[in-house]
Amino acid sequence: MKIISFLNPKGGSGKTTVTINVSSCLAASGKRVAVVDTDPQMSLTNWNRNEKARFDVYTASSEKDVYQVRKELSEYDYVIIDGAGSLSVITSAAVMVSDLIIIPVTPSPLDFSASGSVVTVLEAQAYNRPVEARFLITRKIEQAKMLSVLKDSIAQTGIKALKTAINQRQSYVKSVLDGDSVFETSDGAAKGEIQILTREIEAFFE
Ligand SMILES: Nc1ncnc2c1ncn2[C@@H]1O[C@H](COP(=O)(O)OP(=O)(O)OP(=O)(O)O)[C@@H](O)[C@H]1O
Ligand SMILES: [Mg+2]
Repeated sequence: MKIISFLNPKGGSGKTTVTINVSSCLAASGKRVAVVDTDPQMSLTNWNRNEKARFDVYTASSEKDVYQVRKELSEYDYVIIDGAGSLSVITSAAVMVSDLIIIPVTPSPLDFSASGSVVTVLEAQAYNRPVEARFLITRKIEQAKMLSVLKDSIAQTGIKALKTAINQRQSYVKSVLDGDSVFETSDGAAKGEIQILTREIEAFFE
């Protein structure tokens, strides 16, 4: 069983959207997937109110629940943790239990600094058990200047970015509002980029 966390205390960086879509993609390929919603706002739990998800959803109410994940959810192939939109003890717990940390970041220059706190938690954790971490560029728009600023900021952290980026697309917004993933839409470009991202993530564990 592999545990992957999407973490960035910056609200709106795309954690929940990417969690829903990557988890749907993994589940569609036959993997047993559990998603753990650690956000006190419970956006992922609410997204699944009609229980349309192809994966199981668990709600963590404290960091204790997160520490239990490896033991309690051991029957799954993948456990995906959707991080909270604020820096909390839950973020540290998620870093402790994860095999891979993904930090979604948007090209908005003002948004990047919040992700530094995840890097700090990762560096503290590195003394115990180093954990693989990657940035993921989300909500990408064709704005060369903003993108190059973001790439420079990423480079300065010493943590690499995933090759696949997620573009800004209306289909992500609309499908999530409908309790779906992009796989229930006709947006082939969105489905394609999620599939490529999911393969890139799976390759970590091969
Ligand atoms: N690739 C995308 N294209 C367009 N809109 C997006 C994309 N990803 C996310 N959004 C939109 O941005 C907003 C924030 O996304 P999301 O809820 O996934 O972020 P989050 O990091 O989980 O936020 P929070 O920290 O508040 O939980 C939502 O309105 C969502 O629909
Ligand atoms: Mg969220």
